[in-house]
Amino acid sequence: SKRYSITLLPGDGIGPEVISVAKNVLNLAASIDGIEFKYEEVPIGGAALDLTGLPLPDETLLSAKQSDAVLLGAIGGYKWDKNEKHLKPENGLLKLREGLKVFANLRPATVLPQLVDASTLKREVAEGVDLMVVRELTGGIYFGKPRGFGTNENGEEIGFNTEVYAAYEIDRIARVAFETARKRKGKLCSVDKANVLEASMLWRKRIMEIALEYPDVELSHMYVDNAAMQLIRDPKQFDTIVTNNIFGDILSDEASMITGSIGMLPSASLGESGPGLFEPIHGSAPDIAGQDKANPLATVLSAAMLLKYGLGEEKAAKRIEDAVLDTLNRGFRTGDIYSTGTKLVGCKEMGEEVLKSVDSQVPSP
Ligand code: NAD
Ligand code: IPM
Ligand code: MN
Repeated sequence: SKRYSITLLPGDGIGPEVISVAKNVLNLAASIDGIEFKYEEVPIGGAALDLTGLPLPDETLLSAKQSDAVLLGAIGGYKWDKNEKHLKPENGLLKLREGLKVFANLRPATVLPQLVDASTLKREVAEGVDLMVVRELTGGIYFGKPRGFGTNENGEEIGFNTEVYAAYEIDRIARVAFETARKRKGKLCSVDKANVLEASMLWRKRIMEIALEYPDVELSHMYVDNAAMQLIRDPKQFDTIVTNNIFGDILSDEASMITGSIGMLPSASLGESGPGLFEPIHGSAPDIAGQDKANPLATVLSAAMLLKYGLGEEKAAKRIEDAVLDTLNRGFRTGDIYSTGTKLVGCKEMGEEVLKSVDSQVPSP
């Protein structure tokens, strides 16, 4: 039997709740193929701050680097919101992405037929949406220098950040995006603000340059403000979207709502080599944490992406995706995706139902 080592990072808020569900689903789905996991559960974010004084302890990064894949819940919470920058939970996550060099963040947004009524968009707009946001994850304004606080010429307090991209950073995310589009419907839309920002002007130039390597992919460009509007007007026009770190952050949350809930969207963060990082796109949801209300499916689907993109175990990944669909077909819904006529369940019960759906796929002897 195959063995993989997984670093588990439950984190804060609903993180531990959704990770507990995803871990059980991952175990059962993979065991059917004789796959076993060795887990190392280590702290990150606020949990790590409370334990060690740092949001990303050295041991946590080391464990992640030495693993075959990393599964993360979420980080952050009111308790640490006033911490100085390097002692914020969010900084632990950014350092982890940087440390693992996972520059390509794949965020699929698929409207499942079972959840069309959970979307806030009209049925005819939402139905059939299937898009992929390829978000650059280790550059741009999140990491650019100079950054900090200071005073301006009037002695007034200022805060500043820098949006900066080097050509190589754009080229490598462009290649991931073109490859992704090629395996999908062959359409790529690059989203930027090239009418205003130099970093976006270079972005567009490099995307056009790399496009020469992919003549089979149909490339278009869109300004981010228009893209935000078009996503709601007619989301089906999009297949694959490639964009920078901050635009990708915002547009993927927006895209999640087409599908019904941010509680449904998984993600995979990949580098040139080494372990990938898999996490839901949502945060620690402090408003519902500890109440067994969180939708665990984004994390469960992130576990499926871990199997597919992280370990190449496509059969086990498909089994999880099928189990999620089966659970939805059987009518189970957490509050965020509830609609009349369906069965309202909590996080734990949703997990148990997904396990039953995985179990029902075990080939009978
Ligand atoms: P959030 O994604 O945590 O929550 C936004 C809203 O969506 C909330 O109403 C929440 O209840 C709901 N929601 C989110 N996930 C859900 C789920 N699985 N099921 C049901 N409802 C869900 O965003 P926020 O409130 O802006 O941020 C809260 C904290 O999370 C902050 O500290 C923020 O920095 C952090 N955060 C972390 C990550 C991450 O770990 N990757 C991502 C985003 C935000
Ligand atoms: C996300 C989050 C993070 C981001 C924060 C918590 C650093 O919003 O994973 O989408 O902005 O990348
Ligand atoms: Mn985000």
